[in-house]
Amino acid sequence: MKLVEMIYWSRMTAPLSMPEIVAILDVARSNNARFGVTGMLTFGAEMFLQSIEGSPDVIDRLYRNLLKDPRHTDVNVIGIRPIAERRFAAWSMGFYTHGLDGSLARAGARSDRFDPASMTLEQSVALLTDMARQLEPTHV
Ligand SMILES: Cc1cc2nc3c(=O)[nH]c(=O)nc-3n(C[C@H](O)[C@H](O)[C@H](O)COP(=O)(O)O)c2cc1C
Repeated sequence: MKLVEMIYWSRMTAPLSMPEIVAILDVARSNNARFGVTGMLTFGAEMFLQSIEGSPDVIDRLYRNLLKDPRHTDVNVIGIRPIAERRFAAWSMGFYTHGLDGSLARAGARSDRFDPASMTLEQSVALLTDMARQLEPTHV
């Protein structure tokens, strides 16, 4: 099966509460499980950083949905590329926000604040991978 990963960041339209973020995750996980999407989501400073991986047509459709979602705006695709295997195979959508500072440092980010706009594709992937390593694979 052909697989791609897409990494993007976006800005919350208005500050979201944790229950509102959990509501996004609930829908994301149930849709993603159905359509074979896996990935990782984090946020800080009212910005999201997300990786989604799956077949090209499914990722394209999800991207169009994301663009229309009023809860965030300014959706910036950092990269989209083919992958041989999933990085986040255990997660229909992993979510992690703790220890952002440590993850940023290990990912080699230039800023010690969460600022996905200043991060390269490799740093963004490294940050999300570092966070995934700290999760237990319970959210399949
Ligand atoms: C930051 C963010 C991340 C999201 N991630 C996903 C996702 O991984 N999968 C998904 O299906 N929807 C995700 N959504 C929700 C979509 O934008 C959209 O609301 C949803 O796909 C619509 O699904 P529905 O047609 O079943 O209501 C996300 C929304 C936001 C704001």
